[in-house]
Amino acid sequence: MSIHIAAKPGEIAEAILLPGDPLRAKFIAENFLENPALYTDVRNILGYTGTYKGRRVSVQGTGMGIPSISIYVNELFRDYGVKRAIRIGTAGSIREDIRLRDLVLAMSASTDSGANAVRFGGRHYAPTASFALLKTACEAALALGWAPKVGPVVSSDMFYTEDPEEWKLWAKFGCLALEMESAELYTLAAKYEREALCILTISDSLITHEQTTAEERQTTFTRMMEVALETAVS
Ligand code: HPA
Repeated sequence: MSIHIAAKPGEIAEAILLPGDPLRAKFIAENFLENPALYTDVRNILGYTGTYKGRRVSVQGTGMGIPSISIYVNELFRDYGVKRAIRIGTAGSIREDIRLRDLVLAMSASTDSGANAVRFGGRHYAPTASFALLKTACEAALALGWAPKVGPVVSSDMFYTEDPEEWKLWAKFGCLALEMESAELYTLAAKYEREALCILTISDSLITHEQTTAEERQTTFTRMMEVALETAVS
């Protein structure tokens, strides 16, 4: 058992899906996995292991933001031997050609985070997805009939920024969407020599201020799940 995860050794699969919301982890376990078993509920961050197409897969919440995902992913890599971590989440579009409900595969994650500023002593690390997982997810999405948008995203430390137009600079330099976790996941995967990928659906637009409806979020979520699970067991 680690500090924030109550699993015994061997209870967590080598491949794990990481939604931010712990109730999403429960939903995925109950609707997509066979024989799911709860392995942790510390702080109501739920984690389950089951099988998908006969292969062991775990799913666990991470909470929102870099400090929270950092705690769980450090423990999953260091203490539980997780080899493949796939974050599934939502993001805000910062470009006109990235539309609501689009599926985005985060090739890299720029960040304004204090975490990497501290870790690298002011140097600028480039958090990058696993090419193997990225390729597999891209092919899985295309096979299911969905053309993903693949490119750089931004992992921001703040949802509510002082400058509401801050995102425009990132957009000018080619970033597709804003979210709050990928940079840390990719950095930790590199540190522990594991594989990581973030699969995102666009839930809102910072340009038009549109948001997806609850029903649309459910549909796009299911679609993202299929891509993530296919990638996890590949
Ligand atoms: N900003 C940061 N994270 C997000 C957003 C956003 O607009 N939408 C979904 N996750």
